[in-house]
Amino acid sequence: MEKAEIIALLHKAIQSEHMAIVQYLLHAYRMGEGEMAAEIEAIAREEMRHFDWLSELAVELGGKPTIVRDELYGVVDDVVQNMRFDVQAEVDAIAMYRRYIELIDDPKIQLLLSRILSDEESHRGDFESFVAKAERGEVTGGGGEAGTEGAAMPKAPTPQPPARIAEILKMGMDHEYTVILQYLYHRYLMPDCEVGNEIEMQTINEMQHLGWLSEELVSVGGEAEMEHTSLALEGDAEDMLKADIAAEQAVTAAYSRQIPEIDDPDLKALVARIRDHEIYHAEVFRGLLDEIKAQEHKGEEPAPSPAPKTRPPSVGNLFGQKQD
Ligand SMILES: [Fe+2]
Ligand SMILES: [Fe+2]
Ligand SMILES: [Fe+2]
Repeated sequence: MEKAEIIALLHKAIQSEHMAIVQYLLHAYRMGEGEMAAEIEAIAREEMRHFDWLSELAVELGGKPTIVRDELYGVVDDVVQNMRFDVQAEVDAIAMYRRYIELIDDPKIQLLLSRILSDEESHRGDFESFVAKAERGEVTGGGGEAGTEGAAMPKAPTPQPPARIAEILKMGMDHEYTVILQYLYHRYLMPDCEVGNEIEMQTINEMQHLGWLSEELVSVGGEAEMEHTSLALEGDAEDMLKADIAAEQAVTAAYSRQIPEIDDPDLKALVARIRDHEIYHAEVFRGLLDEIKAQEHKGEEPAPSPAPKTRPPSVGNLFGQKQD
């Protein structure tokens, strides 16, 4: 099979993993805190690893990453139905990986796909057991007390979230989701792997932000969604880092404007904490940009030149420094 054909298949798999990550997270967020929600989030993290491996492989074969996402099977107000959607997603993923393993006659790639396939088979079993549990009413969901679901208790109507707070949280979620996609894309394409790893570290932090904000949104009765806003994907290493700095500056400004609007002290503190992380991310990206520029400059020197008086900051010493 031609490389281009393999890359096309990998892209389809990446799009399906991307869908699974978002769908499972949205299902887990809707359930509030609880054992099953935590298990579903753990499955979503495994799908992130699949996404990661497949994207790296696509780039290794000379392709590009992709942030296109397959359509979600569904996110509804019914745990049983959501778990059925997830079983179906796994059944379809299993069929896809079995087909690809037959089609792609490269033992290394087959090994990776088989590894992923075995995860998906295990996930299918997990989701099937979640359907059964949910049918028996053994689910804590929507912030309810353990064991009260299924009991014949009149439910209080879900309070409407304060509109502006829900809006702030939704904007934050969209931003976090957007930068996660942008930074992952950049990380896969970054020629300097040390720089790529540092970008990944910040991306993991953005994933935490996404989780915190969605928990808050659900706790005020809002509905978590994930739609990305505009992305700056293409360019060389410098363009990518400049775009990432711009994204951090924009969101720092947005969070800074929103913080005074929030009355709840805990939520105010949370958003301020996230905003401070974003300030730090911009600083990290600026350091990486300086590093890349210094490397390029060195490469352009035609003849040996006197050693610079001050060494450019290395990634290592940037991270050794304490944050102000
Ligand atoms: Fe997967
Ligand atoms: Fe963030
Ligand atoms: Fe950030």
